[in-house]
Amino acid sequence: MLGKEVVKVEDIMMDKNRFKKFLPIVIITVFTLIFIGGMVRSTGAGMGCPDWPTCFGKVIPPTSVDQLPDDYRTRFSKPGRIVAVFNPVHTWTEYFNRMAGVWTGIASIILFVLSFAYKKDNKKVVWLAGLSLFLVVLNGGVGAMVVRSHLHPNVITVHMLLTIFLTFALAQLKYETKPISFERNYNVDKYKDYLWVLVTFLVIQVVLGTQVREQIDVITNTEPNLARTNWLERLDMIFYIHRSFSILILLGFSYTLRRIMQEFQDHAFVQRKCISIMLTLIGVVAAGVILAYLAFPAVAQPIHLLFAILLTYFIYELIVILKKAKQVSV
Ligand code: HEM
Repeated sequence: MLGKEVVKVEDIMMDKNRFKKFLPIVIITVFTLIFIGGMVRSTGAGMGCPDWPTCFGKVIPPTSVDQLPDDYRTRFSKPGRIVAVFNPVHTWTEYFNRMAGVWTGIASIILFVLSFAYKKDNKKVVWLAGLSLFLVVLNGGVGAMVVRSHLHPNVITVHMLLTIFLTFALAQLKYETKPISFERNYNVDKYKDYLWVLVTFLVIQVVLGTQVREQIDVITNTEPNLARTNWLERLDMIFYIHRSFSILILLGFSYTLRRIMQEFQDHAFVQRKCISIMLTLIGVVAAGVILAYLAFPAVAQPIHLLFAILLTYFIYELIVILKKAKQVSV
């Protein structure tokens, strides 16, 4: 009986198709988590659970204030942090976010186990799946520190950079296990260099964005009743650098992607990738403009974040694809 079970587990671990089918689920899970995390923040639900990993000291959070001790606001307070009046929507939104985080962890463990199907012919897949799991666990820890440190600025930036590295590892995994066919050699060396410059610009832009976000967090923490229309006037130079840097990014992307599309005229897949990158970039900039000039609508905050991380992921994917296009031997 036990022998049969062992064989089954081995069969699963040797099946590359299972890995290939499960990887997109993990990728979608990670981006969903980024969106939910952004929503938690923009709706102000982040402090819906004042403690970690429990919520108001419970595994399943309360649904009504009657389930909490009378002194819950002082009992769960930390130096420099005020516990807000209990709001079941905020508490359950934050709890849902944590559940999504737990599922991301479980999904990464499953992916790592499934990656053993490649242990004989492509060890890189096992290493990358291991790295993804490590980054998910590490970022989970950093996420907990974000709550514990009461949204400390540097911790948020580290959280964001680790998320970007995680998406890079997943993009690498995708093309390590998914063959793309190229019928001829493409002249890609110089475009790859341009793309690396663009990735660097994007990472700088994301760090600048987190600085702007940190200023918004300070505003909402210190002046909770300030109307969203007045947030912009409280921002300093960093916001204007972040906004203007987008022009350089737009120009750099337009030039490079146009050149790549010309080189890959006969390759529909690469063409589609370039178009989706350009559309995502337009989406990030549009969401940024809407945020800044249309009084920071809450829904635009997670969209701006999601598109920004999607953009770095897509551009890294393109680098990996171009590397493969260079390796083709005809
Ligand atoms: C390539 C273009 C851009 C990228 C990659 C980018 C990226 C980011 C990122 C990652 C954040 C942090 C979001 C968070 O932590 O929730 C951010 C925040 C922000 N960005 Fe951008 N951004 C871009 C363009 C723009 C533009 C053009 C504007 C305005 C004209 C803008 C306005 C803002 C504002 C106001 C915030 C603070 C949002 C908040 O507190 O939720 N961004 N940006």
